[in-house]
Parts: sequence; structure tokens; C-alpha cells
Amino acid sequence: MSETLVPSEPGRIFADPSAYGDPVAWHETAAYLRRESPITRVSLPGYDDFWAVTRHADIMEIERNPEIFTNAPYPTIGPIDSRPSEAEGGSPVNTLIQMDGQEHKDHRNIVNEWFKPASIKRMNERVAALATQYVDRMADMGGECDFANDIAMHYPLQVILSILGLPEEDHLKMLQLTQELFGAEDPDIGRAGEDAGVLQVLLDFVEYFTGLAADRRNHPTDDLASVIANAVINGDPIADMDVMGFYLIVATAGHDTTSNSIAGGLLALLENPDQLDLLRSDPDLIDRAADELIRYVSPVKHFLRHCQSPYTVRGVTFEPGDVALLSFASGNRDEEVFEDPFRLDVRRANASSHLAFGFGRHFCLGAHLARLEIRAFFREMIGRLETIELAAPPTFVQSNLVSGPKTLPVRYRFR
Ligand code: HEM
Repeated sequence: MSETLVPSEPGRIFADPSAYGDPVAWHETAAYLRRESPITRVSLPGYDDFWAVTRHADIMEIERNPEIFTNAPYPTIGPIDSRPSEAEGGSPVNTLIQMDGQEHKDHRNIVNEWFKPASIKRMNERVAALATQYVDRMADMGGECDFANDIAMHYPLQVILSILGLPEEDHLKMLQLTQELFGAEDPDIGRAGEDAGVLQVLLDFVEYFTGLAADRRNHPTDDLASVIANAVINGDPIADMDVMGFYLIVATAGHDTTSNSIAGGLLALLENPDQLDLLRSDPDLIDRAADELIRYVSPVKHFLRHCQSPYTVRGVTFEPGDVALLSFASGNRDEEVFEDPFRLDVRRANASSHLAFGFGRHFCLGAHLARLEIRAFFREMIGRLETIELAAPPTFVQSNLVSGPKTLPVRYRFR
């Protein structure tokens, strides 16, 4: 690693959206912090101070103690002035990732069944058909495309929206809203120049989903939108805003995360052609390789936890009110856990020990679905590919929440 690339304020990389636009430099700085200051205090103008937790073991330890380290009052990083104030009623929607304790358990129970491996299995055929449809689309594009925008962005959205039960004509609208929400800081994606852009996008979601909930209450079907709209906790229907929160998190968390894993995964394979050849020669390797690709990309960069009572990790004592930023992207390159962590190794035996889905109570609800989608897509694409190469350098989404390739121009030939 070249020391000159380490910026004077290394902790900046966690908060500054533009830092995610250069993943190589980002990872060099994170490796430096893992070595020199694995739990490091970060003070940046306009942000609450936080402790960046960069090592795999420390992230797991904090996740194992959800009573001490809570998700409330807010689980994602952002400038203080962009957060809705408590005086204004806090966040307009409440989602699983903002909840703790019994409230979180009760809400997660509503949808847990839907996302268990046995239920997800029912999706096998539908997901495989969609994978084929998108590889066909790639073939129809005549040998060149922007893989991130033309393919990877659309396929997971189709999966998640068909689980929710939304009509196909609404898919483009959802695509735009999720991109605006997750890429809010990226000048090319967010609603730059508009007042309170993120809040406005949230309100647009609410408007759309209010109509959906009303429809599913009047005409319940067997889709996930109906399960959520008609959910009951302790005999009482859940609040309208909680219904919104559910729709919002399923539609958003199930989309960009998987798109970025697929586009970032393809980029990783293009940069490591020996690994692509391995998959081509033994397609069964894809099952394990999916986790290696997710580890390597780590599209969800981190979540925050808020300390409620004093607790010491690796010699650092967190005090009540302290904020811990759990850097999943850094933990997934931790030299203590992954041998030669910067190498993509589709046969890596412990790839599934990655933290890209988090850990503990908030462990990603959609992890099984995401793996299914990623495996189905790469199995279909690699089976049909004769050649593939980068047609131009990729660019990356500048977001400090979910990031991966923004553009990925590729040239290819199918059999
Ligand atoms: C490769 C794709 C994905 C990645 C990397 C990913 C990553 C994550 C991470 C890091 C968390 C937070 C875990 C924690 O705080 O410990 C999370 C939570 C969550 N994810 Fe995913 N996710 C992916 C796909 C999906 C999909 C397909 C869905 C489908 C609905 C989904 C739904 C959720 C939900 C609902 C939560 C909140 C769970 C809770 O707070 O209890 N995710 N995900």
C-alpha cells in the first residue's frame, strides 16, 4: 500500500460520499486504519462525531449486544442539518432498521416467514426466468452495453416488485425513486438543488404506497404487499406509517444492494479473468462464489449504532450517546479473518463469514433472496458467454450508504 494515498484525515472516507467514488483509494485508507487505529474517533464539520469500527471481530461484538448498541435514534450517517429534527416529529417513516427490542421483533415477525430459505425456494423458477430474460436482453443489445444501467439495475427490481405484487407498469417509477433515495448525495443521481431532496423522495414513496395499502386491504391477495397491509401486532393492525416503512425498506433494500453486487461482482471478475475462467469451467462453483462476490463488493458500506451504557471494545470505552459506525466494507477485507483479503477468490472457503449482510438481530432479511438472485444471474450469464471485457473504465456511485459501479461499459460475445 502506498502511504502517500492515505489522506490526512482518514476517517473522512466513511462519511464523505465522494470517497466511495474511488474504491481502491477507499480500501487503502480503511486498511491503514485497521492496522493503525482499528476503532478510530472521527470528527467532521457538520456531522455528529462517531467511532469508526473497522475490524470484523469488533463489528460482530457490537452487533451481539443490541441492548447496549441500539439502532435508534438513527441508523445511517448524514449531515446533522439533513436529519429531520425530533421537534418536527423525527423521521416521517419508521422501518425495521430504525427499530430496536420488542418493537423490532414484532415487526420482523410479520415478514420473517416470507424470507426464510424454504419460502424463498418457491421463487427459484420465477427468479431463474427473470435471470434468463435479462441475459437475453444483454444478448439483444448486440455485444455492447452499460451493464450497470442496462442490466444490473433492472433485474433485482423486477424480482422484488413481483414479490410485493406491484404491476409492471409501475416498475420504472420505483426504479427512479430508489435511485434517488440511495444516490441522494451523488450529483448525477440525487435531486440536487431541490430543498430537502431525500424527504421529498420519501414523501413520493409514501404517496405511492398509501394507494397500494388501501387496495390490498380492500382486495387482499397472496402477495407480500397484502401480508404487510393486513398485518396485526397483539391484535391491533399496525400503524399506516409502519406499513409505509415496510414497503419502503423492502422496495429499497431489496434493490440497489443486489444490483450493486451484480455489477460490482462482474467488474471483480473482469479484473480477475482467472477467476472468471474458473467459474466457466465449473459452474457449480457459483453457489460459493456468490458470497465471495458479495464480500468483495460490500455494497452496504455501514450502519450506525448508538451506545446506551459504557462498554469497552479493543480497549476503547464507548460512553452513552457515543455513535459507532460499523464498517462492513472494511470488516470484509479484514486480514485477521480473510487470507489475502484483497484477492478475489471464488473458491474461498470462508467467504460466507463476510459481514456484507450485517450480523445479529438486524441481519439482512433478504440475504437468501439476494444470494438466489446473484447465483441465478451469474449461472445463466457465464454459461452463455464466449468473451467479455471492459469497454471503458467504470465509474462508481458517490454515496455513503449503498455504492457500487454507476456505469460499467462492457463488450461481449455470447455463444
Ligand atoms: C446483496 C444484497 C444485499 C445486501 C448486501 C444487504 C445488506 C444489508 C445489511 C448490511 C443490512 C443491515 C444489517 C445489520 O444492521 O446488521 C440489511 C438489512 C436489511 N435488508 Fe438487506 N441486503 C441485501 C439485499 C436485500 C434484499 C434482496 C432484501 C429484500 C427485501 C433486503 C432487505 C433487508 C431488510 C428488510 C433489512 C432490515 C432488517 C432489520 O433491520 O431487521 N436486503 N441488509
